[in-house]
Amino acid sequence: MAQIGVFVGTVYGNALLVAEEAENILRARGHEVNVFEEATLESWLDYREHFVLVVTSTTGQGQLPDAIVPLYAALRESGGYQPALRYGVIALGDSSYPNFCAGGHLFDALLQEIGAKRLGDVLEIDATEHPEPEVISCPWVEAWAERIDAQ
Ligand SMILES: Cc1cc2nc3c(=O)[nH]c(=O)nc-3n(C[C@H](O)[C@H](O)[C@H](O)COP(=O)(O)O)c2cc1C
Repeated sequence: MAQIGVFVGTVYGNALLVAEEAENILRARGHEVNVFEEATLESWLDYREHFVLVVTSTTGQGQLPDAIVPLYAALRESGGYQPALRYGVIALGDSSYPNFCAGGHLFDALLQEIGAKRLGDVLEIDATEHPEPEVISCPWVEAWAERIDAQ
């Protein structure tokens, strides 16, 4: 059984819905899962030797939603090196915007910088093509969970 923190950045609730579906899938597989909205660095650091799933949309012109910006900034400034952390990223966006899924990619780049290990590729979900994001995210989460089991 793994300890998994799911950290959410959302404006309109789509990323939260995806995160809650992921929580259900991961719990059903026997993992201990907590979903965080407006998370602090402290709650993140509880997982620095475990697993994190970041589920975030993109807003403005390629920016992270306000609710997850403080976590991102705190990780940059004082999160330290986190080589034992393994993570995944689900990036929600809309390809009609110039900076497609930039929020998720910003987070991914930061986690790479601090030495964390990504399991699988970043999942991009395009709202233009997929009005129901969980249809895309659920199979991806199942595959991500297989990677956790293989650790
Ligand atoms: C004002 C606004 C700005 C947006 N900017 C971007 C953007 O720069 N890049 C992108 O990929 N998607 C952008 N989107 C699309 C959202 O990321 C997408 O609709 C997503 O599914 C919203 O998820 P949420 O409900 O979790 O916030 C924007 C949407 C709005 C309403």
